[in-house]
Amino acid sequence: MDRNEAVLRELNLYPQWVRREQPATADEVGVDGRGTARRADVDAGTEASCVSAENMAASVADTPQSVAVIAQPVPDADEALGTPPVEAAAEPMRVAGVESEEQSREQRIAELDWPELKAMVRDCTACRLRAGCRQTVFGVGDPQADWLFVGEGPGADEDERGEPFVGEAGKLLDNMLLALRLKRGKNVYIANVVKCRPPVEASGKQSPPKSDEITTCLPYLQRQIRLIQPKVIVALGKTAATAMLRTGDVTLGSLRGRTHDFDGIPLVVTYHPAYLLRSPLEKAHAWQDLCLAQQTMRDE
Ligand code: URA
Repeated sequence: MDRNEAVLRELNLYPQWVRREQPATADEVGVDGRGTARRADVDAGTEASCVSAENMAASVADTPQSVAVIAQPVPDADEALGTPPVEAAAEPMRVAGVESEEQSREQRIAELDWPELKAMVRDCTACRLRAGCRQTVFGVGDPQADWLFVGEGPGADEDERGEPFVGEAGKLLDNMLLALRLKRGKNVYIANVVKCRPPVEASGKQSPPKSDEITTCLPYLQRQIRLIQPKVIVALGKTAATAMLRTGDVTLGSLRGRTHDFDGIPLVVTYHPAYLLRSPLEKAHAWQDLCLAQQTMRDE
């Protein structure tokens, strides 16, 4: 098995993508939305490697189903996720008095050590989310990790277990880690922007956290990052990316493909694993992002 095959296998795509003689350009890459997510059988012995973006784009464009929809725009993950803008997270509206209260809370959080921070998160009732969830989900992994992966917020499985990314999206995240030769808990820390599970909508879909909930919870993540001091941060999905980068409502696509700065630490944006489960052909783009993160790590 060559290295490209190995990567596709790790990402649960092999043998769906097969390269032909004439690679298409990245602009021609389309998505047909027909792919169904499967659980990966991870070949623990395979060695993944980052291939060039052109090669990966070509391998997507060359499949019969994607050729059929060439020229269709690649949908943005967060449009598909229906994630609302996180505008207020960037610049929350502040009222005198409330502002100083918030500032002093942020100040207190910024001075906590790891066990104090954990305890404060565990006992937090600062926003409405805590009333609707079973427990807070602080994060998991090596508190001195070089790699930090940040998602949106706990779902049902995470609320039950008290650990981030333990459901189906978490299994895919584990495979993404494996493709980078990483493992949950080993030089990797996984956290979320909000520590409490947001409510489930009438449709049965988990709602994304609201901007004020993000604003309230973000100091915890900021403190986690200050204490962990990772070398690279990977933001999973638009909620995490826009909240951490305080960009307001921009598309995830506009944030991909380059490194950003979070408090002096390089941050790479990629798709949320839950979106990748619904749109498996986007895994090729996610792999490009992971390769960028890996290259960034090497350069650090
Ligand atoms: N989605 C997230 O963003 N975080 C989790 O922990 C689980 C699913």
